[in-house]
Amino acid sequence: MNFIDKEIEEYTRLYTSSEPELLKELAEFTETNMPMAQMLTGKIEGRLLKMLVALTGAKNILEIGMFTGYSALSMAEALPDDGKLTTCDIDEEVAKLAKDYFARSPHGSKITIQIGPALETIANLNETFDLVFLDADKENYVQYYQAIIPKLKSNGLLVIDNCLWSGKVLEPEAETDIAIHNLNQLIVTDPRVENVVLTIRDGVNLVRKL
Ligand SMILES: C[S@@+](CC[C@H](N)C(=O)[O-])C[C@H]1O[C@@H](n2cnc3c(N)ncnc32)[C@H](O)[C@@H]1O
Repeated sequence: MNFIDKEIEEYTRLYTSSEPELLKELAEFTETNMPMAQMLTGKIEGRLLKMLVALTGAKNILEIGMFTGYSALSMAEALPDDGKLTTCDIDEEVAKLAKDYFARSPHGSKITIQIGPALETIANLNETFDLVFLDADKENYVQYYQAIIPKLKSNGLLVIDNCLWSGKVLEPEAETDIAIHNLNQLIVTDPRVENVVLTIRDGVNLVRKL
């Protein structure tokens, strides 16, 4: 995540609304204790996710890739009391941490955790979603996309993280670079959707199902 000027990034962070204290604590805990802490979306993208949930009026959300729960809690904040967020992760250890923070949040009761390979979890979900946040194993991004689109309501929003992959999509070489670039290419030619690629953090692809 090195293509945005550091000072501009910091300015953007400073002039974006604050996140709740519990999310600050979760981000700090993750940074101190988790070797892959950079996976956490953080303040700017977390506030963007919350705003997208509020603006779309989403009531049923699916998240693929929960980690310690920062993005799930950010989105749950804007869900109405009868709203629901299903979040998937393969890692039981991170799920234990996330559960502790969900239990301390007034919005945690809206969240259901599904542990296991997310492609299997999605296949077993018999419902449609207003908003989906995709942030799991990048190598499977195309498969996730194909599995998600039929489960997204018409006018529903799919938010895809890391779609610029530190700029490596410009000259994709490694498997992950190629997978992300292939998905970006698929989306822009898919007649079922329209999309905007945002240069926020590591790139966010906003995809609206027509
Ligand atoms: C980038 S992190 C998610 C970050 C999270 N959205 C946040 O804001 O903190 C990706 C997560 O996907 C999970 N993951 C990787 N492969 C998976 C799979 N096949 N099925 C489900 N989850 C998977 C990892 O365990 C990891 O916690």
